[in-house]
Amino acid sequence: MTIRFDNRVAIVTGAGNGLGRAHALLLASRGAKVVVNDPGGAVDGKGGGQAAADKVVDEIKAAGGQAVANYDSVADAASAANIVKTAVDSFGTVDIVVDNAGVLRDKTFHNMTTEDFDFVVKVHFLGTAYVTHAAWPILRAKAYGRVVVTSSNSGIYGNFGQANYAGAKLAVVGFMNALRLEGQKYNVLVNALAPVAGTRMTESLMTPEILEKLKPEYVSPMVAYLCSEQCQRSGEIWSAGAGNFARIEYREAEGVRIAGRAPTPEDVAENIDRIADVSASRVFRTSGEEVAAVVGT
Ligand SMILES: NC(=O)c1ccc[n+]([C@@H]2O[C@H](COP(=O)([O-])OP(=O)(O)OC[C@H]3O[C@@H](n4cnc5c(N)ncnc54)[C@H](O)[C@@H]3O)[C@@H](O)[C@H]2O)c1
Repeated sequence: MTIRFDNRVAIVTGAGNGLGRAHALLLASRGAKVVVNDPGGAVDGKGGGQAAADKVVDEIKAAGGQAVANYDSVADAASAANIVKTAVDSFGTVDIVVDNAGVLRDKTFHNMTTEDFDFVVKVHFLGTAYVTHAAWPILRAKAYGRVVVTSSNSGIYGNFGQANYAGAKLAVVGFMNALRLEGQKYNVLVNALAPVAGTRMTESLMTPEILEKLKPEYVSPMVAYLCSEQCQRSGEIWSAGAGNFARIEYREAEGVRIAGRAPTPEDVAENIDRIADVSASRVFRTSGEEVAAVVGT
């Protein structure tokens, strides 16, 4: 089996650097026509320019691929819509959306300004929603779409100094969970990536030996699979880094049921270890499944 994207149009946001660049290069090398979106700028989102996106487009073209640059920010609904318009104007449609754009404004919550919070949520969560929202009617109408949102172990497991980022990165998982249900009838599949890679975002935290193992190119095969016709999975979280690929899932303890009377706070206190014990646990695929289990039907 060979995974190819001939006649497919892909948007990769934040594709001027790091992971997005690697995703764009891989998709283009397998035949996709790629919109390389990136407004440039530093890791904290300050500044900007066309060079980052242009360079990746040049790389793709030099390798014989097809790509067009777009410099709009994902963090504004109108400019996000223009990213999708670029795909339609240049290549006629869109089939694949990789929501990858990201920034960091790390600080302890105590020192974090509300602006740092708003900005990070805007790029990661609203940016993901805006670009996907603009592409959604096209994907739905053609009954084909592959969307990959980018989450993070920071949100899934927690990381000191990243309350803004961690919150935004788990928000995209909630977003994906809803879109899985809304997209399935239209063959629009939505998955979340939790990457680990050495990029300008993370390289200051890593030794050269670790960076060598954490090439962004080692993450992109997961994205390419999730964007392919071969992929039939949707609504799941995928860890990828250093050649390690693994599905992440959350589970719910069997718990304790207080029946036949109104439960009290003391019931909770007395049973808290059993309530917390996930050694026997359940996995739910929709909120309705969880509600049914809670109600006991
Ligand atoms: N590197 C990791 O280990 C890691 C871990 C977990 C999640 N991530 C996520 O992966 C994604 C890519 O990160 P990276 O490590 O390659 O970092 P990076 O800084 O190399 O790439 C992020 C890109 O997003 C672009 N960008 C920033 N604001 C934008 C905006 N408003 N609109 C469009 N593009 C914008 C930047 O210009 C940059 O090119 C991010 O969403 C990041 O949060 C990375």
